[in-house]
Amino acid sequence: MMKKKIKNLIIIDHPLIRRDLTLLRDKKTPSYQFRSILRHIAGLMAYEVTKDLQTKEIIIQTPLEKTKGHLIVDRVILVPILRAGLGLVGGFVEYLPDARVGHIGLYRDEETLKPVDYYFKFPKKLKDSLILILDPMLATGGSGAAAVTFLKQKGAKNIYFVSLVASPQGVKAIHSMHPDVKIFVTALDRGLNHKGYILPGLGDAGDRIFGTGE
Ligand code: PRP
Ligand code: URA
Repeated sequence: MMKKKIKNLIIIDHPLIRRDLTLLRDKKTPSYQFRSILRHIAGLMAYEVTKDLQTKEIIIQTPLEKTKGHLIVDRVILVPILRAGLGLVGGFVEYLPDARVGHIGLYRDEETLKPVDYYFKFPKKLKDSLILILDPMLATGGSGAAAVTFLKQKGAKNIYFVSLVASPQGVKAIHSMHPDVKIFVTALDRGLNHKGYILPGLGDAGDRIFGTGE
């Protein structure tokens, strides 16, 4: 059966991404490997996420003659949601070395599942930049929606949300408040368990990156 397309949800599918995501989902994958695969898959995602960046023509000199080249003109700001979003930054800056990086500190209260904020630091010119919010997990969507709301209050206009694995509830939560935000994922999973964990998911991303669950 054909899955219905959801507006502003882009599911990035590629054999290399499928392979990496499988390793990330596997509970046998240790922390050191989880971190390096996360960085790798983030680089693969960066390719698709940056597809519509604006470029301008420039003239350069090859060793033989002059020719046209291209420069990226869009200003990009990466905003990882602490902690787990940090795991995606390395893969993105590899392809966007000029990107600025802001940080949002949010954690999900284990009882209420509501986001609790504890840190914000952003570069200037949010309004004129493409903002890529990075967080591997989009579960209830509480953290993601709060991050978008906060960035909009600070003036951001052009925001993408980049996540590895999302639940249908998480996508809906962001789009019901912020339909303009493009969400990029590598998988749209089945749903959530009673503790708000994505099923089948990959577990607690922060704990798996930083080894705090062991
Ligand atoms: C995780 C994840 C998201 C959030 C997703 O962070 O990285 O930020 O949960 O859940 P939600 O969509 O239901 O809000 P967590 O709260 O575990 O904090 P951590 O990254 O510091 O471990
Ligand atoms: N946060 C995670 O790290 N994993 C989930 O499945 C849900 C929220």
